[in-house]
Amino acid sequence: MSYPITRMRRMRRTEPLRALVRETHLEPGALILPLFLCPGEGMRREVSSMPGVFNLSVDEAVKEAEAAAALGVGGLLLFGLPETKDEQATGAWDDHGIVQQGLRALKQSSASKQLVLIADVCLCEYTSHGHCGVVRQQGDEYEIDNDPSLDLLARTAVSLARAGADVVAPSDMMDGRVMEMRDVLDEEGCEQTPILSYASKFASAFYGPFREAADSAPQFGDRRSYQMDGANLREAMREIELDLDEGADMILMKPAMPYLDVIRAARERFDVPMGAYQVSGEYSMMQAAFAKGWLDPERAMMESLLSIRRAGADFIVTYFAQEAAKVLG
Ligand code: PBG
Repeated sequence: MSYPITRMRRMRRTEPLRALVRETHLEPGALILPLFLCPGEGMRREVSSMPGVFNLSVDEAVKEAEAAAALGVGGLLLFGLPETKDEQATGAWDDHGIVQQGLRALKQSSASKQLVLIADVCLCEYTSHGHCGVVRQQGDEYEIDNDPSLDLLARTAVSLARAGADVVAPSDMMDGRVMEMRDVLDEEGCEQTPILSYASKFASAFYGPFREAADSAPQFGDRRSYQMDGANLREAMREIELDLDEGADMILMKPAMPYLDVIRAARERFDVPMGAYQVSGEYSMMQAAFAKGWLDPERAMMESLLSIRRAGADFIVTYFAQEAAKVLG
């Protein structure tokens, strides 16, 4: 049955034929745009390592959200740059925190009728040391203390849900955070707020530009005692299983392109809604190549997103959300 009877090229001859047999599709509604909220008014400060990405004051974020909604983007993932930082990450769970303010404003805008508002839940943007949990210092040694961090994370989730988050998304990688968060959300009357757990999150060099965007680089050490080792696929499956047992409604895989095999493995194993996060470094390295004229921006962007969909992600968190939605029309 091989050549000349079979000719694979027959189905590639025209665009309508190619469209007919296309196996994977992208749509704007499956794209989630991250936004970085900062204090102030009329503030739109470009992140130097991420062309086209800005720190936005709440009023500017509302405009950005309206533009994204008009393009059919599916949702926003919100991060915050607080006015001040401390050991207890007060800015994360303060009802008047920057993301809480942003959520209230976004809820009042027309954009919120079309966009799913997802609030990232982590402490690293709010702690003075930049770690995702509480730090216990013993002489020269330090430890990111798991269990005392859970209370602060759960408090953060409740505060964000009350401010208007449609979904809360813990990205801290502490053990047991999903269970604690679900318990406290339920106790506080937020039993309808879904948890999107960053279930499989690797300690990655590709978060570098984000730490500039969110001002969240650890002041000492690194995140390898809580984020996963990039060598481990089986461990990723256990992380997902545990988060689902603890009550996660959806899972998020991160980073995306260097871990497409992990996304595929998760897709085959777990029948739950799954997103993938095309992280800052993935975006920045492509932008750098675009600036040099080394890659075709539109084609490379769409191909990268398609690869993540093909690996099995239902939705994609990407800094390209608006640009890609424009292409998809
Ligand atoms: C917070 C968080 C990070 C990212 C998302 N949530 C940074 C980190 O873990 O260091 C990275 C996102 C990106 O690189 O675009 N913990």
